[in-house]
Amino acid sequence: MNAASQPLTATMPLDVRGRPLRDLRLSVIEACNFRCPYCMPADRVPDDYGFDSTSRLSFDEIETLVRGFAQLGVNKLRLTGGEPLLRKNLPSLIQRLSRIPGVDDIALTTNGSLLAAQARALREAGLGRITVSLDAMDPARFRDMTGGRGELADVLAGLETARAAGFESIKINCVVERGINDDQVLPLVSHFRGTGHVVRFIEFMDVGTCNDWSRDRVVPSAELRDRIAARWPLRALEANYRGEVASRYAFEDGQGEVGFVSSVSAPFCGDCHRARVSADGRLYTCLFAGDGHDLRPALSQGVDALRERVSTIWTRRGDRYSETRGGVGASRKHIEMFLIGG
Ligand code: GTP
Ligand code: 5AD
Ligand code: SF4
Ligand code: SF4
Repeated sequence: MNAASQPLTATMPLDVRGRPLRDLRLSVIEACNFRCPYCMPADRVPDDYGFDSTSRLSFDEIETLVRGFAQLGVNKLRLTGGEPLLRKNLPSLIQRLSRIPGVDDIALTTNGSLLAAQARALREAGLGRITVSLDAMDPARFRDMTGGRGELADVLAGLETARAAGFESIKINCVVERGINDDQVLPLVSHFRGTGHVVRFIEFMDVGTCNDWSRDRVVPSAELRDRIAARWPLRALEANYRGEVASRYAFEDGQGEVGFVSSVSAPFCGDCHRARVSADGRLYTCLFAGDGHDLRPALSQGVDALRERVSTIWTRRGDRYSETRGGVGASRKHIEMFLIGG
């Protein structure tokens, strides 16, 4: 039997908990022009932070890598950063990735600050979906939430340009921290209700090592949902697909939907089919992994070697951090979120 006639499932690994590999989240750059305090606080991450650009995978390497993952069952690709729109010629990479057999959904997570200038080219290159991080509707608060680097008006202009370029139903991700931006939740809902965009509220997580996480700064999704529903009644919706991270709610008055990502109050590791690769080619099998697996040696030998290596790593994977929060005495060594993009 030749490779083309092999049943697809023959090459698709399951991890030790029986979870397939479906979703690849690929960081194209580790640098960011924002310094959100929960991710890359300015007092801990220098202004010029970033790898020497030769450490980043080239577009050729990325293409080979994505081909290998696609052969293992990945059909969904999300490009992340840092801030991915800082990577030069990103549209040409997207064009190459959009032709890879098996990859039928390409999305991008961005802070939106550079979107107005790039949305059209991204769309023409074949990008399917955009998710924009946006933590406040008040301009001064927004600036604070980005470490003093972001302008709300730029992000709103980026959203408008993206819509005009053909991106429909853009997702807006808001990380909520008690006492920091939880008063921005209703203004965000009010602004985006009825626009077709979907706001999703994310529980503040203990990712990375820089954000001094504590449980009392997490606002449980149930609390936010009640607050929103008191003003705009909600009804639960079915997930769009198995293992969807956000739980979905529709506004009873037909003005769209909101979502909640409850990884602290209601972990979803049981269905986790996500792999993450950093811009320098390391594979992380969990958002809270301490160490990654260097894929470059295998990658330099081509797609077959890469596929074998990833398959071996995935088959041994048992991660379920959010279900245990590391447990007593667990290591506090966690990969930084800005290296794998959320
Ligand atoms: P869609 O394909 O649009 O459904 O995207 P998504 O919701 O899978 O991805 P997105 O990056 O928008 O996820 C939103 C946020 O949820 C991320 O920024 C993370 O904060 C969190 N998140 C996503 N995946 C995981 C995960 O595997 N584990 C945990 N703990 N949190 C996650
Ligand atoms: N908790 C939850 N989500 C986070 N992100 C970054 N840091 C955190 C954190 N501590 C996510 C946000 C942001 C994306 C890039 O990463 O969703 O939008
Ligand atoms: Fe940059 Fe996103 Fe991290 Fe903010 S959350 S510092 S925009 S990578
Ligand atoms: Fe997946 Fe790790 Fe998140 Fe659990 S904590 S859902 S295993 S990435």
